[in-house]
Amino acid sequence: MPIVSVLSHKGGVGKTSVVLGLAGAAMQQGLATLVVDLDPQGNASSILGPDSPTASALDLFSRPGAKALQDAVTACAWESGPGEVDVVVSDPMLIKFDAWKEIKSVTPRLAKSLEHSAGYDLVLIDCPPSLGTLAVEALAASDAAVIVTEPTYFGVQGALRAADTFEEVKRNLNRKLKDVSVILNRVKSTAEEHDYRARELSREFGKLVVKPVIPERIAVQQAEGAAIAVQKYGSAGSREISNIFETHLDKLLRRIG
Ligand SMILES: Nc1ncnc2c1ncn2[C@@H]1O[C@H](COP(=O)(O)OP(=O)(O)OP(=O)(O)O)[C@@H](O)[C@H]1O
Ligand SMILES: [Mg+2]
Repeated sequence: MPIVSVLSHKGGVGKTSVVLGLAGAAMQQGLATLVVDLDPQGNASSILGPDSPTASALDLFSRPGAKALQDAVTACAWESGPGEVDVVVSDPMLIKFDAWKEIKSVTPRLAKSLEHSAGYDLVLIDCPPSLGTLAVEALAASDAAVIVTEPTYFGVQGALRAADTFEEVKRNLNRKLKDVSVILNRVKSTAEEHDYRARELSREFGKLVVKPVIPERIAVQQAEGAAIAVQKYGSAGSREISNIFETHLDKLLRRIG
């Protein structure tokens, strides 16, 4: 069961939307998927989670192991598809575990819990918009990282910093972290600045930038507003976005599956 962290050192670039898009694509393909929400903001949880969860990602840190994972996993609130999506919801108090530490000195806790996630075809971790200990913990538990960015100067900077953290965690904590890729989101085809930043990203990351880019489409926001998978929204824009996530999921699983 490949574990994939979705991260960036920039807020609002679409990390959660990419997690939801990939989870929806996995559901359509009949895969058993677990989404772990490590962002204290809890955006993915507000869409996927039950109203009154009895356990959360906090348990995966405070008492790492099989029992914590078993307690924290719940069926997701999406209408079911061919595959099953489960979720470990966030808790605002996850912030306690986000204090900066030297990467070398982190003793991974999340990895100890997620090593018991066998049975899933895919585990997706939604990271907060920072590169503190929560992101390091996510990478320490993962086989792969997807860095999400938008085609702006700050977005590219956030992606570069996330790539540095990936390398440092790989060197110091997790040798099985084998794949890093970059997804470019919220692209406006009419904006020259976006073309310029897309070229800059290709210069910096080369083949790590996976095609196709994800365009800016209101369907992403509409599906999130309706708390349904974009694959189920049923508009022209949602079909376009769904096809793109299907391609990204296929490419990701081919690289790491
Ligand atoms: N391709 C897109 N087209 C249109 N809107 C998008 C697209 N991708 C994301 N958005 C919207 O942008 C906003 C931010 O997206 P999202 O919450 O996924 O980003 P994030 O990186 O997870 O943010 P945070 O750093 O706060 O966790 C949301 O309202 C989302 O619906
Ligand atoms: Mg988010």
